[in-house]
Amino acid sequence: MQIGPYTLRNSLILAPMAGVTDLPYRELCRRLGAGMAVSEMVASNPALWDTQKSRLRIVHGNEPEPRSVQIAGSDPSMLADCARYNVEQGAQIIDINMGCPAKKVCRKEAGSALLADERLVERILTATVGAVGVPVTLKIRTGISPERRNGVRIAKIAEACGISALAVHGRTRADAYRGQAEYETIRAIKQAVRIPVLANGDIDSAEKAAEVLRITGADGLLIGRAAQGRPWIFREIDHFLRTGERLREPDIEEVATIMLGHIAHLHRFYGEYQGLRVARKHIGWYLNTQPNGAEVRRRVVRVDSAEEQLGLLREYFGRQINAYSESSDVASRTTALATY
Ligand SMILES: Cc1cc2nc3c(=O)[nH]c(=O)nc-3n(C[C@H](O)[C@H](O)[C@H](O)COP(=O)(O)O)c2cc1C
Repeated sequence: MQIGPYTLRNSLILAPMAGVTDLPYRELCRRLGAGMAVSEMVASNPALWDTQKSRLRIVHGNEPEPRSVQIAGSDPSMLADCARYNVEQGAQIIDINMGCPAKKVCRKEAGSALLADERLVERILTATVGAVGVPVTLKIRTGISPERRNGVRIAKIAEACGISALAVHGRTRADAYRGQAEYETIRAIKQAVRIPVLANGDIDSAEKAAEVLRITGADGLLIGRAAQGRPWIFREIDHFLRTGERLREPDIEEVATIMLGHIAHLHRFYGEYQGLRVARKHIGWYLNTQPNGAEVRRRVVRVDSAEEQLGLLREYFGRQINAYSESSDVASRTTALATY
């Protein structure tokens, strides 16, 4: 898939998720098969840029190209300035958030609330595309409400304003996260424009990914919640789309290696105090699907040091490897856990 000058190695993209898609998680998902990973949104109000939270959101480290940063707001000139600022900080693609229903975002008439004002959408897109020399992408929902599915009109406005790719979550703003995502409107949007269209919403397996591509005719997919605690979903989907065969689930040792590496990276990135708190939700997601995960999860949320957090996880995985392994090299395999 092509976005401006960038050819992605596949068309599977980690959806932007505030509080989740930070640098450690984006790097991990890229390593495990995502073609691109969109950052957490950055508020367009410059008064908010100098906070620790915003500063960390614009760190790119060794993140592979292309680095896509999402911006949110409702004032065209502020969004244009914010886009320029983020390009100076290393963003190679700017993504505009018109898809988020969160109250914190919508109260300020940003996110998906903007879809109600098509003239404002046009002004925002024109200002932002005109402000930067990098591709600008847009993320929307299918409309304001089931009675006002104006996604096709918004998509045409986006194309006319020079937007390079459009991601569509198959729910309206009024739907929030209720019900099932519907893909017919995404299909109608895909048929109405020539820019790449990415389908999004409830894609949680390789088979579902193939089905959504078939129904919508979309050029690629955005995957959000299903990647929480399962960052390897990208390589599973990629493999299935290329070969038609299911990739084997990672074994317990690989899960341990991925998870411990991720948690240790969070500790380094945020520092101990914040790092172990951010890590708790990821640990919860990873352990959701692991045997006896609930018990260790309860203990992990109570500890207040990074070393203890990692220690409990090492102990847990050591036990699991012992319990599920028939071979005699358990000792050497569990020793590998100590490297994190
Ligand atoms: C915790 C969380 C945070 C999110 N933050 C954002 C955001 O900052 N910007 C945005 O456009 N969408 C945001 N979303 C929406 C997702 O990008 C995605 O559109 C939605 O979750 C549907 O996709 P999924 O079913 O694959 O999760 C967020 C979703 C979740 C669950």
